[in-house]
Amino acid sequence: MLAQSFPNSHFVGLDIDQCNVDWAYKDVATLGLKNLEYVCADASAMPNDWTSTFDYVFFFNLLHDTPRPDLIIDDVKRVMKKDGIMSVIELYAESKHADNLGDPNASFNYTDSLFYCLRCPTTILAPWL
Ligand SMILES: C[S@@+](CC[C@H](N)C(=O)[O-])C[C@H]1O[C@@H](n2cnc3c(N)ncnc32)[C@H](O)[C@@H]1O
Repeated sequence: MLAQSFPNSHFVGLDIDQCNVDWAYKDVATLGLKNLEYVCADASAMPNDWTSTFDYVFFFNLLHDTPRPDLIIDDVKRVMKKDGIMSVIELYAESKHADNLGDPNASFNYTDSLFYCLRCPTTILAPWL
């Protein structure tokens, strides 16, 4: 959607799971987008030649699924230009575990994140994707 909305900008989508990258590329082919590429990489160890490259970094529903989000933020600081902007959209949850009691989404999200997302890439647990 971003690549469609901002045709004069170039977008790089990143995921650690090659299966997700392959799946995402189907959209590029279907929509005929020329300003979008996907890369399979660990967001805490992005390519060396990306240093000071990006104007904008956007996390969508990712940081909560990583065991060391602090390392990812460190590497994002490296790949962003000095005046770059980062924005993050994540699932909503209370910081104190007890404050999530009574919210059915919270228990689902916690379980899903702990036993599915944090454990291994989609390729292993959901090979149909
Ligand atoms: C909840 S999914 C969200 C995927 C996509 N952003 C979306 O909203 O459809 C979290 C994603 O984070 C990816 N991921 C987990 N750790 C990562 C890392 N260290 N670097 C890059 N991607 C990672 C997983 O492979 C997974 O696709």
